[in-house]
Amino acid sequence: MKHRLVLIKLGGSVITYKEKPLSANYKAINNISKILSKLEIPLIIVHGGGSYGHYWSVKFDMHTKLQKYPPRGISVVHSSMLTLNNIIIYSLNKHRLNPYGISPSSFLITGQPNSNKILELKKMTKDNIIPVTYGDAVYIINNKYSIVSGDVLMSMLSKILNPSKIIFALNVDGLYNNMKEKKIIKEIKFENPKIYKNKQTKINLINDTNIYDVTGGMKRKVEEATKMAETGKDVIFINGLDPRQIQNAIQDKNFKGTIFKGKI
Ligand code: IPE
Repeated sequence: MKHRLVLIKLGGSVITYKEKPLSANYKAINNISKILSKLEIPLIIVHGGGSYGHYWSVKFDMHTKLQKYPPRGISVVHSSMLTLNNIIIYSLNKHRLNPYGISPSSFLITGQPNSNKILELKKMTKDNIIPVTYGDAVYIINNKYSIVSGDVLMSMLSKILNPSKIIFALNVDGLYNNMKEKKIIKEIKFENPKIYKNKQTKINLINDTNIYDVTGGMKRKVEEATKMAETGKDVIFINGLDPRQIQNAIQDKNFKGTIFKGKI
């Protein structure tokens, strides 16, 4: 199958060790780069903050609420995200891909997605370039800032770019029915928005016990996936620590994970 565009989010829990400040999971990053280098598909990557952005956001009490934040915090959070972005860029480069780091500030105006700038990202993929953007501390308006999560960026990008695949690479195999049985929910159908929403609330969400998470953890991912499914797009959750699942999901093979079926 020829893909128009694949949009993939590399969760912070995959690319970093979330419990250990400022520690990248080089092995996981390289494994993902290796798989992606075999696929030859137009691709846009979004990545999370993990033990980089979240670590400093917690330290400076910064979150998704729009307000004034300490300049030191804004600078240090952003700088740590640049470091992590560069680690990913370096790995993709090493695997002979052509990544290009993109700050989210370059396509958000007063915190809102700028369609023209975002459409440029898709044009770049036609030149065999992989734009790589990330959650960050972003200037919004009136000297107020916010932490913008990579999950929210996924929703914004997918709305404008209409990708043929939307994938979230997590550090779990998908969405569990509950934490006791830990059975993966294979498919979440959008039969009727009301039922769908109820279903969502019934799902026993993975309880991120992580102290380093300022953007809402798994709950946020499910919210964003639901939003995207409401606009008719399928959204796939798979385990990024098992990159074969990324390959399977992209190549329309059987994969282990959860698919949020888009509203028809
Ligand atoms: C967080 O982005 C960015 C910062 C804290 C600066 P995400 O919310 O997308 O990160 P993960 O994937 O949960 O780590």
